Amino acid sequence: MNNKSTRRKIVAGNWKMNLNSHQAMELVTGISTYLENAELPKHHEAIVCPPMPYLFLVSNSISEELEGKLSVGAQNCYPEASGAYTGEAAPEMIADIGCQYVLVGHSERRKYFGESHDFLAQKVNKLLQTGLTPIFCCGEPLEIREAGTHETYVATQLRESIFHLDATDLARLVIAYEPVWAIGTGKTASPEQAQDMHAAIRNLLAAQYGDELADGVTLLYGGSCKPANAHELFSQKDVDGGLIGGASLKADSFTKLIEILNEVG
Ligand code: 13P
Repeated sequence: MNNKSTRRKIVAGNWKMNLNSHQAMELVTGISTYLENAELPKHHEAIVCPPMPYLFLVSNSISEELEGKLSVGAQNCYPEASGAYTGEAAPEMIADIGCQYVLVGHSERRKYFGESHDFLAQKVNKLLQTGLTPIFCCGEPLEIREAGTHETYVATQLRESIFHLDATDLARLVIAYEPVWAIGTGKTASPEQAQDMHAAIRNLLAAQYGDELADGVTLLYGGSCKPANAHELFSQKDVDGGLIGGASLKADSFTKLIEILNEVG
């Protein structure tokens, strides 16, 4: 089983809580300009996930000709359509301003906001009902990696928040493996560590949903991924692109990552 060449390939930038509105516009303009001139296969896509206050601005700035090439994602959502949830944003609102994706289960939200498996499952359900694509993040902290139980840990994250989905819905997800010890630390997982975990995730998907479905799911790697190490990471047979933090904040490094993904195919 391996269908790497036909799976959807993605470089997604998680801008986290960074940039002012001017910088955000400068960044998306730089990425748009690159993509307007780049020859990319149809199944390659770049995604930017700006902070919520700039979401509309950024999404509104992307020209129609970049549809399918450059998409916008939110970093968070609340799993209700509307109501008395002060400070939150509904999937419907995020879809309404032209976004296609939402990050769910990022380790920073699990850690700082105490988001549980069950709450993440509710978000995934609501996003799918709204027609948005969840980018479901999983990954183990350092102590779990050191204890050697990282595969079981990630399996639990998947089982508790996405394995309740039927096959049709599961097939609509993008999954990002982001080892917590590699996020913002400059310490990247080795290409072998990334490949091993991606293969383990694909095996879990296969056991639950069958080989064909597992083979079609896009699996991104995240954690200190940058132009200097992306070639090796993206070349791994179960790595279909990256979810990028720091290196997504500059147009030249982000577009370089798009170029590298295109080179490795
Ligand atoms: P860094 O690329 O800055 O390590 O962040 C990764 C990440 O958390 C993306 O969601």
